[in-house]
Amino acid sequence: MTRQEDMLRTAKEVQLGNYAPAPFVLTHGRGRRVTDASGREYLDLSAGISVLSVGHSHPTLAAAIAEQAARLMHVSNVFYNDRAIELAEAICARTPFDKVYFCNSGSEANESLLKLARRYHYDRGEKQRTEFVSTHNSFHGRTMGSLSVTGQAKYHKGMEPLVQGVRFVDYNDLAALDAAVTEQTAAVVFEPVQAEGGIILGTDEFVRGARRICDERGALLFFDEIQSGYGRTGRFLAQEWFDTTPDACSLAKGIGGGFPLGAIAVTERVAGGLPPGSHASTFGGNPLACAAGLAVLHIIDEEGLIENARRLGGYLAERLAEVDAQLESTTGTRGLGLLQGIVLADDVDPSATIAAIHSAGLLLTLAGGNVVRISPSLNVTRDELDEGLSILAKVLAEAPRKP
Ligand SMILES: Cc1ncc(COP(=O)(O)O)c(C=O)c1O
Repeated sequence: MTRQEDMLRTAKEVQLGNYAPAPFVLTHGRGRRVTDASGREYLDLSAGISVLSVGHSHPTLAAAIAEQAARLMHVSNVFYNDRAIELAEAICARTPFDKVYFCNSGSEANESLLKLARRYHYDRGEKQRTEFVSTHNSFHGRTMGSLSVTGQAKYHKGMEPLVQGVRFVDYNDLAALDAAVTEQTAAVVFEPVQAEGGIILGTDEFVRGARRICDERGALLFFDEIQSGYGRTGRFLAQEWFDTTPDACSLAKGIGGGFPLGAIAVTERVAGGLPPGSHASTFGGNPLACAAGLAVLHIIDEEGLIENARRLGGYLAERLAEVDAQLESTTGTRGLGLLQGIVLADDVDPSATIAAIHSAGLLLTLAGGNVVRISPSLNVTRDELDEGLSILAKVLAEAPRKP
């Protein structure tokens, strides 16, 4: 038995079965290249599902983490720490938001937003505002609150009862949103680009209309920018494409470049929504995670990665459309910046196809069940995209069909 086979066997014995990972064990990574325990190299254009904004083990990021680990890793939130202050200041400087709260993941960030909304209205004497309006096909996380506003029934299965008072409307259906927001609504929450749902772009009408409706009815507006934010779409936040500022947004994934870090960024108006003692996280805002966050921003600036995401995102979209035009196994492409997808035809087997892509040495993931998602790190090169697209085109030309 090889070392890799041995590890796979052990994994099945000792790890819970809630994931169904590909049959290899990754041990090293640098840039867009990762290596498994057998020494095989893969081209990673998934960036750990939109997480590795600056690629695997960027030397500046790795050095910042090592330096901070040797200096100060954790203090409780009974005390300030320098790195959290610096990172909050840097996020506020780049966004229309005025205050930041740090946590450790996307689900936790959304959970914090939901709590902020309820407490905000409660403290203003509007105790009836406890409901949330979300969108079908959305993904906001797996904790009970974030799961409750996730608009995909498959994730709810066997987990009920969920948080009560959540209404779902079709994404981009402004009339439905208009009908759903009432005097009971604490907040409307959606992704400016639905990522896990299959890379569906919000329309100007919907995103801007949501702002107007929330203002008219006294509900808060939250954007989940966990996947669309931090440069992924070619702007620092995807909301910039729509010229619309919500009352708060959630961030995670790319913000730590691979180090667990989540945040909510909020406007002054709602900043009082979480008064002292109302919410907390033991690890949230620890100096180690925030040092990683600062290094990510430094690299984004130094290497011009927002611009790279916009430029190479456009290139990727064009090349992907060319690939699609030559194939019978796909039915179109869609995306924004470096969050792009190619849609598999109905008779193609998505799981077998993604497994074939991995076997061919390319790491990508599925979104929305039948969309092959390409979400590389923001410092991906044109050559790496060309290499990945050529592997992808070959696999899709012989895409496995459904049994
Ligand atoms: C838009 C969005 N929101 C929330 C989450 C949940 O984040 P996490 O897995 O870090 O809890 C994800 C994860 O894929 C996401 O894409």
